[in-house]
Amino acid sequence: MKILRKESLTNISNTKVTRLDIFAPDIANKNKAGQFVVLMVNEKGERVPLTIVDSNKDKGSITLIFQEIGLTTKLLGGLGVGDSIYSITGPLGHPTEVKNYGKIILVGGGVGIAEIYPVARAMKKAGNYVITILGTRAKDLLILENELKSVSDELHIATDDGSYGRKGFTTDILKELLSNSQSAQVSLTYAVGPIPMMRKVAVVTKEFGVKTMVSLNALMVDATGMCGCCRVTVAGKVKFSCVDGPEFEAHDVDWDELDKRNRVYLDKEAHICKLYKL
Ligand code: FES
Repeated sequence: MKILRKESLTNISNTKVTRLDIFAPDIANKNKAGQFVVLMVNEKGERVPLTIVDSNKDKGSITLIFQEIGLTTKLLGGLGVGDSIYSITGPLGHPTEVKNYGKIILVGGGVGIAEIYPVARAMKKAGNYVITILGTRAKDLLILENELKSVSDELHIATDDGSYGRKGFTTDILKELLSNSQSAQVSLTYAVGPIPMMRKVAVVTKEFGVKTMVSLNALMVDATGMCGCCRVTVAGKVKFSCVDGPEFEAHDVDWDELDKRNRVYLDKEAHICKLYKL
């Protein structure tokens, strides 16, 4: 599966976010907002899940956006136009339940911004009033601002250092929006980003009684429901992110467990990246 286009979206402060358009016509034909693929960069590589950010049926391409953070994403970022990816499986996971909810708030943090874009676009198309909140550490790390502006009725931005938009966190803006009387009609919040951000979103929206969905970035191996690697506890029950998710009700997620599980291989990953000099 050949890479048709490559674009560096950010490349500063050790944060490299890259966009790849890849020829994968079967996936481009079928994918819906909220779904993902699992890819292997080479024959012996691990399998990593990445959200399908966009697709073009005419060109037969899908768009993936990822941060070069572990071995596989660094190897992937090292490929260029014309290179082939060993395997891509998808679309996987349940699509987002897209319908007219009325007024909704989407919250994207870091590279999670790429993951809310297809949902924002689909929700806007379904007639929703879409309020989007984006958050990054600094202005230069913000991605897809124009794309999200074009599918949002309101766009709010927060940066940790105050270099763009409001100084602070996405959840500060979320709390303000939910506190004002008009926003009391918000019927859904949807969040993707770092675990601490999604967790805080859940705390804020619970206070206001707003249904909240999160797309979880659990570790995956086979992504077909067989290995159990991606298990999360939701409402006291074990669920597999790959086949039961990746979206779950945020108020029911066992965040402590998810956070712990996602850190399990961090030291091994760092060791392998060192071996590969990445
Ligand atoms: Fe193996 Fe989900 S990745 S069960």
